[in-house]
Amino acid sequence: PAPTPGFPLPSLHTQQAYDPAANFTSKWTRADAKQIMAQSNPNVAPGQNSMSPNVTMPEIPEDFPAMNDDVWVWDTWSLTDENANQVSYKGWDVIFSLVADRHAGYGFDQRHWNARIGYFFRKTNADPAKDKWNYGGHLFLDNTSIGNTEWSGSTRLMQGNKINVFYTATTFYDVAERNAGGGGIAPDAAIAKALGTIHADKNGVTFDGFQHTKLLEPDGKLYQNKAQNPGFAFRDPYTFADPAHPGKTFMVFEGNTGGTRGSYKCKQEDLGYRPGDPHAETVDQVNSTTGAWYQTANVGLAVADNKDLTKWSFLPPVLSANCVNDQTERPQIYIQNENGKNKYYLFTISHQFTYADGMRGPDGVYGFVGDGVRSDYQPVNNSGLALGSPTDLNMPANAPEGPDPRQNGRQFQAYSHYVQPGGLVQSFIDNVDGVRGGSLSPTVKMNFKGGVTQVDRSFGQNGLGPFGYLPTNVRVGGEGLY
Ligand code: FRU
Repeated sequence: PAPTPGFPLPSLHTQQAYDPAANFTSKWTRADAKQIMAQSNPNVAPGQNSMSPNVTMPEIPEDFPAMNDDVWVWDTWSLTDENANQVSYKGWDVIFSLVADRHAGYGFDQRHWNARIGYFFRKTNADPAKDKWNYGGHLFLDNTSIGNTEWSGSTRLMQGNKINVFYTATTFYDVAERNAGGGGIAPDAAIAKALGTIHADKNGVTFDGFQHTKLLEPDGKLYQNKAQNPGFAFRDPYTFADPAHPGKTFMVFEGNTGGTRGSYKCKQEDLGYRPGDPHAETVDQVNSTTGAWYQTANVGLAVADNKDLTKWSFLPPVLSANCVNDQTERPQIYIQNENGKNKYYLFTISHQFTYADGMRGPDGVYGFVGDGVRSDYQPVNNSGLALGSPTDLNMPANAPEGPDPRQNGRQFQAYSHYVQPGGLVQSFIDNVDGVRGGSLSPTVKMNFKGGVTQVDRSFGQNGLGPFGYLPTNVRVGGEGLY
């Protein structure tokens, strides 16, 4: 691309694949992420949207419906197989969501400390505009999961009627923190799974028999642990098969670079400027005049050591965002055939407030494309930004619980985007012009090919599809395909 005056060029990335176990971590660089501002309009009226419509989620109406009156609903995922297909089970579509009680006396922003995995079902081929999702309640019985709070993950239908729920087992030790929301004793985090049974009849879907197994805790070397940083991230497992490595099961998850908080030194490869770029920062500058070394997100990779998926080994992270951003959440791998070749899209969500000093971007979903699970990933649209909430990036970053009234009222309209087959992107409503959410957003469609993404504004109404539209594309009965 031609450089934007005043901005550096993005880093060069080959997209070349490496062995999944290789010691190569792709970098989302400062040079890459600076393209977000290079592509943003510096001259919009304050509080408008400064981003290209191609990467902007259409506006959610303020009078959105509540999906459920008793629970807030946020991070959501479908029942899938190992290839990210969304499977209908005996005629039912099933989705899993983090939920929290709307009537327990705490506010929407305290939901994280009170999160449980709930599930919903509705008839396959229901009319998504009319037929509501039926709430099935909590997936696990009280006090049976590893940890006392259940955070995001993914759910796979295994053989017959078995399901494996991969989830984040978060344990809070501080009741005051659970009620007040933060600032107390840091929680523990482990990646866990529960193997259970799915049942379906004409009335709907139920689950039972869950056996919980703790799978992984951060090692402090590749993945930061609690002793190194009370604000560490270790969560959001997503498992999948890779056609290039048959018989293996992999997992991507959200992590941080191992090491004590504040000890990281930004490296040339984290900056990623091309030699001689007049707009390059130097390593010394970044390490002496910013606090950018505090932001050390990565996307972790692990491989299963047994067929039961109860034993896992860490591999080096597939992506790091050192000195760029502190959180790359809910990662997923979506494999798409382009011109006869499998292209691996890594999608992950991130926030405005987790960007490093000198960097700016919206809440939304970010993407990276390469030739393998581990590759020199090319950020989509050269910046990494795939789809963000309408934001004036010329104004300073805010957080959903305290937005600046002069900012675009929809800057936090949606979060936790999950990319489904066919480019359907589902998310939850957080804050639409001051109206707090806790329900699923209208699904939007994002076309992507060759590392370029574009919101499809011909989908639904001006680009907004039905609320909570997570259709299935594969049908499975108790005894297999029907
Ligand atoms: C994303 C997220 C996840 C986490 C969950 C906790 O919205 O931060 O990373 O699992 O929310 O509520």
